[in-house]
Amino acid sequence: MRCAHRDDTAKPGPLRPLFRSRRRTSLAFPGRAGKGRRRRSACYPAAVPDLDAAARREVERTRRLFNRAAPLFLLIERWLEPQYRTALAALELPPEFSALDLGTGTGSLAKILAERGHTVTGIDVAERLLRRAARRVPAARFRRMDLADLAGVPDGAFDLVSVGYVLHGLSRELRRLTLEHAARIAAHALLIFDYAAPGPWYVRLVEHFEGPHYPGFVRAPIEDALAGLGLTLARTVPISPASACWLFAREDCTF
Ligand SMILES: C[S@@+](CC[C@H](N)C(=O)[O-])C[C@H]1O[C@@H](n2cnc3c(N)ncnc32)[C@H](O)[C@@H]1O
Repeated sequence: MRCAHRDDTAKPGPLRPLFRSRRRTSLAFPGRAGKGRRRRSACYPAAVPDLDAAARREVERTRRLFNRAAPLFLLIERWLEPQYRTALAALELPPEFSALDLGTGTGSLAKILAERGHTVTGIDVAERLLRRAARRVPAARFRRMDLADLAGVPDGAFDLVSVGYVLHGLSRELRRLTLEHAARIAAHALLIFDYAAPGPWYVRLVEHFEGPHYPGFVRAPIEDALAGLGLTLARTVPISPASACWLFAREDCTF
């Protein structure tokens, strides 16, 4: 892969605090250290707005729901990890890419990224899932953080931002905010796994319990959600009739 503004000489630095979140100042992330870190430039979208109080309450409901659902992740991991492994093998992303995994849950996508040599940081709002992620994927770092608080992460802080089966569960407002931040934080590419079309009845039933956003998400093409964020669709890897993996890249990157 080649990107005009990719610094191929910059190696990932040691795991050390790179920045502090403005909202939750105890959080610190690794990423690409020193000279490899990107600064705001014309290709990043402008500063993004915050969420309203109702949307924040929905995030708290989501946190409680996923903490309660933690035992189900034993099954979810067995379903998702083969998908993640197959798609990442097909994409062959540069292993030196640092990755920020949004809504990491029990770290399934973080685990496969780490297996492929990436330096990975996972964030999630559900602390019970994060404890399991830390036990399962000791090579990655995990932090409790709401997607709505990504404003504390600098532009281009990670080469790759990934998000696995999270977007369909978010309100339109939080989904757009998350994608705006993801496009700003990713120096090179954004990797999305999610539903691509309405699934069978049991998937629709499970998603009904998660919240009201799944039907609207699966009806709209994913490219619409990314419109205007400075990323273009580079690759699509079909996973099943109802799911896919999409790799979006900065316009000057070729895969
Ligand atoms: C269906 S799970 C997917 C988990 C993981 N990506 C995987 O592939 O196994 C959705 C995840 O998104 C997280 N999530 C939802 N809303 C969030 C928010 N506002 N901030 C952070 N994490 C959130 C949930 O806690 C949950 O872990």
